[in-house]
Amino acid sequence: MAKPVYVLNGPNLNMLGLREPHIYGSETLDDVRRMVEDHAKSLGLSVSFRQSNSEGELVTWIQEARTEASGIILNAGAYTHTSVAILDALTAAEVPVVEVHLSNIFRREPFRHHSYVSPAAFGVLCGFGPKGYLLALDGLHARLGAAAKS
Ligand code: DQA
Repeated sequence: MAKPVYVLNGPNLNMLGLREPHIYGSETLDDVRRMVEDHAKSLGLSVSFRQSNSEGELVTWIQEARTEASGIILNAGAYTHTSVAILDALTAAEVPVVEVHLSNIFRREPFRHHSYVSPAAFGVLCGFGPKGYLLALDGLHARLGAAAKS
């Protein structure tokens, strides 16, 4: 049985649908989870979709991914812009990582323009709303397929 892709969501993403809908849209995180699970199934992948408001819990899940996941799709929320601990965990995980943001962080406040996650990611998607998660799955699927052939 192939290992699942960990789809990890950071702080405040549990508020999707309620939170600043003009920026983040009207879909809830549960809607996003359903879209991700359906798309993963169509690609022959399984996912473990999680959300935490706690930096430490995200770090623990990323550590776990080293042995338990085939790859990571991460929307670290605001920790993207602050967390060296998450960068260190991702670097140590040694599985392919895609960074996702619903909004285009480069069109927003300058403090959102820097990401501690990006150096550990092979790809970054932002500004596509929930569709970004599906594009991340496509990218990860291609990457895992290419790695399996090499
Ligand atoms: C976000 C962008 C971050 O800057 C913000 O702190 C979030 C959500 C996004 O998905 O657009 O919580 O990661």
